[in-house]
Amino acid sequence: MTFKITRRTESKLPSIDFNQLRFGDTFSDHQFEQKYKSGEWFQGEIKPYGPIQLDPALSVLHYGQAVFEGMKAFRYKNGKINIFRIDKHYDRFVRSCERMNIPVISAEVFGESIKQLVDIDRKFVPEDKFKSLYLRPFIFAADEFLGVRAAQNYRYLVIAGPVGNYYAEGIKPVRLTTFPQYVRAVKGGVGDAKVPGNYGATMKANNEAMSAGYAQVLWLDAFEHKYVEEVGTSNIFFLIEDTLITPPLEGTILPGVTRDSVIHIAKSWGINVQEKKISIDEVFQAHSKGHLKEIFATGTAAVVSPVGFIHHDGNNLDLKQDSMGPLSQKLYDTITGIHHGEVEDPDNWCTLI
Ligand SMILES: Cc1ncc(COP(=O)(O)O)c(C=O)c1O
Repeated sequence: MTFKITRRTESKLPSIDFNQLRFGDTFSDHQFEQKYKSGEWFQGEIKPYGPIQLDPALSVLHYGQAVFEGMKAFRYKNGKINIFRIDKHYDRFVRSCERMNIPVISAEVFGESIKQLVDIDRKFVPEDKFKSLYLRPFIFAADEFLGVRAAQNYRYLVIAGPVGNYYAEGIKPVRLTTFPQYVRAVKGGVGDAKVPGNYGATMKANNEAMSAGYAQVLWLDAFEHKYVEEVGTSNIFFLIEDTLITPPLEGTILPGVTRDSVIHIAKSWGINVQEKKISIDEVFQAHSKGHLKEIFATGTAAVVSPVGFIHHDGNNLDLKQDSMGPLSQKLYDTITGIHHGEVEDPDNWCTLI
């Protein structure tokens, strides 16, 4: 598949300090862009990274019809670059687009747009282990029209940026809180799609959680405010005795790619993994009986993050841990090992370029 390619004349590389990378503020030299009009996708283009011109009446700015993905590329020691679980991210991208009535792009366009962008900007994939090139494919409604209707024009873009080691300061278990007055998603809504509005709707709760000294909100179900769903931008797991429990995908939780990797790997080790509803009271009870061994959140950004403390309805659960538990650590080491080609990849999760 060929795209039109316009190269940037002078690379930004010399201005980037790969030892001081943060998340989301540094971008590579190029971006991918493709337009959709009147039922047809036009030829894609790779061009220098930069602002895009938007009409003030652009439909996405008013009605939020948009979808995105978040994934990563890693460097092997031999210089090869691994784009991790591209197929799984494509599947979720398609499901999110279908939910938002956005025309689906083909697996080939999704794959080639990402691979060719990564290849042209391959020097932006950091060499150090745990650092990576974050990839952000996204698609948005682009009608210059005010009126609530599914748009007829769309734009699909991919941008990329090197990101640092999430745990550069060392791994500290995070503190979470539930919020009785807010909900994230209901069945039949868009909680299981990766759409910007889901995040916009959580900013107020996130800010309140952070002001109160918590890292993130632990979302509970919208009806009974009883069952655990997910955390900010991650899925959640509880190791209770020898069973690894994570809430099931019933339409209100984002189907995390890391969640899927963790379930698959843990099962392959013979661990009893259960995708089942778990109430916040059961979690607190398991803790008071001494059965709750580990809590961790999973996501592309940090892979596996330990949770050490949960506040709920005036009560506190404190695991009194100051580092990752053994299972969390083993999962983290295995997944980051696969990322960097140091652990076998029996399920072909790595696409090498
Ligand atoms: C709401 C939400 N849940 C869970 C996840 C974890 O998903 P993944 O493992 O695919 O990054 C994310 C991150 O994308 C998220 O935004």
